[in-house]
Amino acid sequence: MGKVKTQGAKNAALPVMAAALLLRGQRLTLDRVPDLQDIHTMADLLRHLGATIDFANGRMTIDVPDELKWETPADLVRKMRASSLVLGPLIARCGRAILPLPGGCAIGSRPIDFHLKALARMGAEIDLEQGSVHAKTSGLRSARIYFDFPSVGATENILMAAALVPGETVIENAAREPEIVNLSETLRAMGAQIEGEGTGTIHIKGCRDLKSASVTIIPDRIEASTYLLAGVMTRGNVEVTDIAPEYLEALTFKLDEAGIPTTVSPNSVSVACKGINWKGVTLKTLPYPGFPTDLQPQIMATLCIAEGTSVIHESVFDSRYMHVGEFKRMGSKIDIQGNTVVITGVPLLTGAEVHASDLRAGAALILMGLAAEGESVVCSLKHVWRGYEDLTGKLLALGADIELLADEKEEA
Ligand code: EPZ
Repeated sequence: MGKVKTQGAKNAALPVMAAALLLRGQRLTLDRVPDLQDIHTMADLLRHLGATIDFANGRMTIDVPDELKWETPADLVRKMRASSLVLGPLIARCGRAILPLPGGCAIGSRPIDFHLKALARMGAEIDLEQGSVHAKTSGLRSARIYFDFPSVGATENILMAAALVPGETVIENAAREPEIVNLSETLRAMGAQIEGEGTGTIHIKGCRDLKSASVTIIPDRIEASTYLLAGVMTRGNVEVTDIAPEYLEALTFKLDEAGIPTTVSPNSVSVACKGINWKGVTLKTLPYPGFPTDLQPQIMATLCIAEGTSVIHESVFDSRYMHVGEFKRMGSKIDIQGNTVVITGVPLLTGAEVHASDLRAGAALILMGLAAEGESVVCSLKHVWRGYEDLTGKLLALGADIELLADEKEEA
């Protein structure tokens, strides 16, 4: 049985780091922060705005001065969509913000209209000039916010902005991800009153002077799931530890439906798949607690070698199938029909040279390479280093036959 310890969640650490901007002459301390490129990009952005950051061995301290800059640099913002998470804190704290509109990426157009409409409803004046958001306010006010779609980032931006606003802000149709709960715990520790996080309705009573706080980042459910599926696809034995099993229920229930048994303990989940074959299933990606879109490429890889046919419907992003072409180069039988794919399982994949189009597609291609006959070369791993800490080291420790080529070295 190979064991792998789950890293802190990238998508929890990024908004929690942005929340530090709400402080004035105070410090936010974070534990279990993963050492990833996106984390360093966010740290560079916060430093640009005036924060002092120390980060070593999973512990990060963010010291925030009385005065902050509120204009964000295009080179950093365009590197990472999550840069938009500084918008709410900056407007609430400085009354101003300039943010270049984050570009689209390989998984879709990724607008921030929900964020902007909600901030406007709280009293921000929003203008778009030369591809940047120019926002200003004489003071945000509490409001009732309704999201057309339970957007993770928009929920986070409004949570953070409302944490500085006296009066009660209510978010309806809020995102329910565990990362939202982690951010809410952080804001509560800083002095905001928050109720309902993890449900579709969140109540926030903010206060003008939030205070220093410490928070531990939750485990990364997508990273943990990726290693579990590596165990499945290679018909090996893998246990992921330091994970809350309830975060993985959408996956473990789907694996059970496919005929893949999982074993759950209070802080670990494991698979033992020697000699196991699995059948095709149907799934739809949905906001939490539905099947996570960030696991769609990885489960697709697993279903490529199922017995029978599978159907996947991607309902969160408008085009998250860039990886299908690369999967076909390895012998997969996949037919794209709009936002649905039909997968006909094949007994064996064949190794090939393939390119990662985004973070999760890259991880899925590595899983495909581990399961395929012959050697595979996965290129453009810079995407993968954004979200997976020491991926090759962890896979080697699990017994994978994998080697990192010089030109793909991880620059965290
Ligand atoms: C977060 O992105 C995650 N990123 C994504 O993970 C994840 O795929 C996504 O949530 C969905 O779970 C971080 O947390 C840093 P959304 P976010 O707002 O907040 C549309 C990864 O691999 N939308 O919930 O950007 C949007 O286009 C990344 O780690 C609008 O139309 O996701 C998408 O179709 C990839 N207008 C859908 O909503 C808006 O204003 C969900 O987006 C905002 C979103």
